[in-house]
Amino acid sequence: MKIAVFVSGGGTNLQNIIDAVEDGTLPNVEISMVMADRDCYAIERSLDKDIRTYVLDRKTFSEDAEHNLEGEEIDLIVLAGFLTILSPEFTTKWGAKMINIHPALLPKFGGKGMYGAKVHKAVLEAGEKTSGATVHFVTAGVDEGQIICQGTFEIEEGDEVADLQRKVAEVESEIYIKAIKQISEA
Ligand code: GRF
Repeated sequence: MKIAVFVSGGGTNLQNIIDAVEDGTLPNVEISMVMADRDCYAIERSLDKDIRTYVLDRKTFSEDAEHNLEGEEIDLIVLAGFLTILSPEFTTKWGAKMINIHPALLPKFGGKGMYGAKVHKAVLEAGEKTSGATVHFVTAGVDEGQIICQGTFEIEEGDEVADLQRKVAEVESEIYIKAIKQISEA
């Protein structure tokens, strides 16, 4: 299964995928390319492994990405900490073959503007006792696509945004690889 990974940030999820491909956890998966919508650390992780890497303009990302994907026979697009909202044309074309990971238990705490620390802040303010991460297919509606799997953890007394970030990262490392593996074996 050939995958393209879209990134905007630190690239922890990208690194998890790279590691899982390298250690044999994802034996059927090849990372064909990485596309970033801004200068970010994920690019370094990608270049470090000699993966074909593109940095695209956010304003024309969907069109430019489509151009780069032409003729590449990509089976799955993996959004890994990717922040640009893709065009409806792009999501319609790729939706069934494009997944995202969100740092909360959707359908709660999702939607436009719900990313990074803002999500965890909202979870804490709502007094939730559990949180987690969700892998889902991507549709034109932000964070609204069909849920593939979720992982949860308990929120403990005194937990702050940084604690949730750490716990989410742990859960994400498990469930994103699990979801990609499941799709690669289907
Ligand atoms: C995670 O919280 C993920 O759910 C969100 O971006 C964060 C990870 O970014 N979509 P990265 O993989 O470290 O770039």
